[in-house]
Amino acid sequence: MTLVRELLRSLPAVSGDAPPFDQGTASDDPLELFAAWFTAAVELGVPEPHAATLATADADGRPSARVLFLKDVGPEGFAFATDARSAKAADLAANPQAALGFWWQQLVRQVRVAGAARYLGAEVSGVDYLARSPASRAAAAGVRPGEPLTSVDDLRAAMRDARGRIDADPGFVLPTWQAWLVVPQVVEFWQGSADRAHVRLVYRRTGDGWDHALVWP
Ligand SMILES: Cc1cc2nc3c(=O)[nH]c(=O)nc-3n(C[C@H](O)[C@H](O)[C@H](O)COP(=O)(O)O)c2cc1C
Repeated sequence: MTLVRELLRSLPAVSGDAPPFDQGTASDDPLELFAAWFTAAVELGVPEPHAATLATADADGRPSARVLFLKDVGPEGFAFATDARSAKAADLAANPQAALGFWWQQLVRQVRVAGAARYLGAEVSGVDYLARSPASRAAAAGVRPGEPLTSVDDLRAAMRDARGRIDADPGFVLPTWQAWLVVPQVVEFWQGSADRAHVRLVYRRTGDGWDHALVWP
């Protein structure tokens, strides 16, 4: 405990290289601003900037968070893919409210998204599944999400079997593969600053558009 505590206190914080951010000229559309920030993160070489934390809650309100990859983003919202047998899919089936969090350290930028998630249907899910590499399709097809596993050797064997089936039938679509969309109601852009005057710009959906305003950090 003490060692970790000391380590924690020795670490730099908000130590990235914050680019200038003029919130006065920011787009009225948070999806456009997200695309601009995401592009900047890619161009700067932020490692795996498409990794986001997805928070869900079950029917009793018990929260759960895990990292996943963003698969698409556009005017409709933020898409990801997962297995229908996963805990997150069960949570969302019972309670569609979800949140996504991105942290791009080098830019001292965080983006937070909140809204309801909806399943995008079998066709979109199938297209997403088939766009994955054979190894990734086999990894998804070989598993039984959340079930007890006796050994990692069993997992490797199941993935090898699945790979054989996929090589024999390249058009196979895993029926439990699901693409989901988080439809944002609130999107917050957080630009950290070395002097701690961090900027929080919060967009809220109105009837047919978005309002945005600063809030105190
Ligand atoms: C970098 C990274 C990317 C991941 N991408 C995905 C993904 O796109 N979809 C997914 O279902 N799980 C992904 N995972 C695994 C999840 O974090 C999680 O372990 C798994 O989905 C089970 O979560 P659940 O039981 O809460 O549903 C990823 C994990 C990491 C660390």
